[in-house]
Amino acid sequence: MNVHLKAIYTDRKPCVVLGVTGGIAAYKSCELLRQLQKEGIDVFVVMTENATKFIAPLTFETLSGHPVAVDTFIRPVTWEVEHIALAKRADLFLIVPATANMLAKMAYGIADDMLSTTVLATKAPVLVAPAMNAGMYTNAATQDNLNTLRKRGIHIVEPESGTLACGDAGIGRLADISVIKELAMALLTSDKDLDGIRIAVTAGPTQEAIDPVRYITNRSSGKMGYAIARAAYQRGAQVTLLSGPVALRAPYGIDCIRINTTEDLCKAMLDVSASQDVIIQAAAPADFKMKNPEKQKIKKDGSGQLKLELTENTDIAATIGKIKTSKQILIGFAAETNKVTENAAQKLRSKNLDLIVANDVTQEGAGFDGDTNIVTFISESESTSYPLQSKEDVANHILDWVAKQLRAKINTNS
Ligand code: PMT
Repeated sequence: MNVHLKAIYTDRKPCVVLGVTGGIAAYKSCELLRQLQKEGIDVFVVMTENATKFIAPLTFETLSGHPVAVDTFIRPVTWEVEHIALAKRADLFLIVPATANMLAKMAYGIADDMLSTTVLATKAPVLVAPAMNAGMYTNAATQDNLNTLRKRGIHIVEPESGTLACGDAGIGRLADISVIKELAMALLTSDKDLDGIRIAVTAGPTQEAIDPVRYITNRSSGKMGYAIARAAYQRGAQVTLLSGPVALRAPYGIDCIRINTTEDLCKAMLDVSASQDVIIQAAAPADFKMKNPEKQKIKKDGSGQLKLELTENTDIAATIGKIKTSKQILIGFAAETNKVTENAAQKLRSKNLDLIVANDVTQEGAGFDGDTNIVTFISESESTSYPLQSKEDVANHILDWVAKQLRAKINTNS
């Protein structure tokens, strides 16, 4: 479980009730269940009778470690399965996939099986992920039902467009499981301590053209910055992610600006910086670019060597450091290979940062590309080292620091 969820659910695991209805995408719910379990969440499954025709309850029973509830009238022997008990136990209620029939029942309050009865009884936030044929999805009846549910505060993950199981093309394919999971995690994070705070995060490398086919870059995958952006969104922040070229999908609910070069990133940052409360620069912008990128592909000339003339790129963090206001918080990262804290502390001062997160990128499990990092927070008043942890936990520790600073700023101004 990530450190922030742990801080909220101190005495128990968070509980998700996962409703599965009868569609071809029902098998994808198994993957969702596994991903939620990896986050330390206890998942209970309720299936409609039709869902059991697509996937056996035994599969969900084995994966979840709990009996699967299907029929309201079968009495349980080992487990309090009554729909009210499940409805009360849920911290979050998911219906994935949700058929047109299920959406219609929910819109009209029809409770004629275990799932529709339980969801009607719950007080937990409800998230539905519709999946169906494009004609059914775009039908006015389904759209009206979705609007009714939206107005009642039910969260809806829009389906994707593409080729559907029935062979038709159009909208109706179940949203990516990682998108559903992200939204589920945001809904479970009831402690929105960054509610309304505007945070810009930079992530990934930049690419500086040498010629039309080659470029200078580095090993940044964007994982650190994306983890910060996702965690900030889950905690209620309004997030703008400025991302270099990476293989990661834009996180749900976040305004994502794609850039290629360090100068692009600088321009994009200058466009958004004035409206931000917090700026966190986890990107690894290339420090150098070609003085004059070649217009044609460079050919070997037989000399056995090639000299490139490079020039320095703008230092974005230092540029923002010069213009930031006293209300803004500016955080940088330092990717170091030696004299880690010394070099990072020097960058803290030269770039006028409030905090620098130093990572020794030579350490196993730290820095580029992996899912973990080992960091030291350095500010004017502190130096705090953390052991190896997930990039998600690093992200939440940074946001805890931000939340503390924001509270201190409010207290000073009041
Ligand atoms: O993306 P991942 O694979 O998850 O890897 C994460 C990471 C190693 C990239 C990340 O943890 C990290 O350390 N990011 C900063 C990398 C870097 O460029 O460090 P630096 O010491 O060169 O720069 C210091 C700070 O100035 C950084 O906040 C950087 O974003 C910023 N900078 C650097 C150069 C430049 N021209 N403009 C900048 O604003």
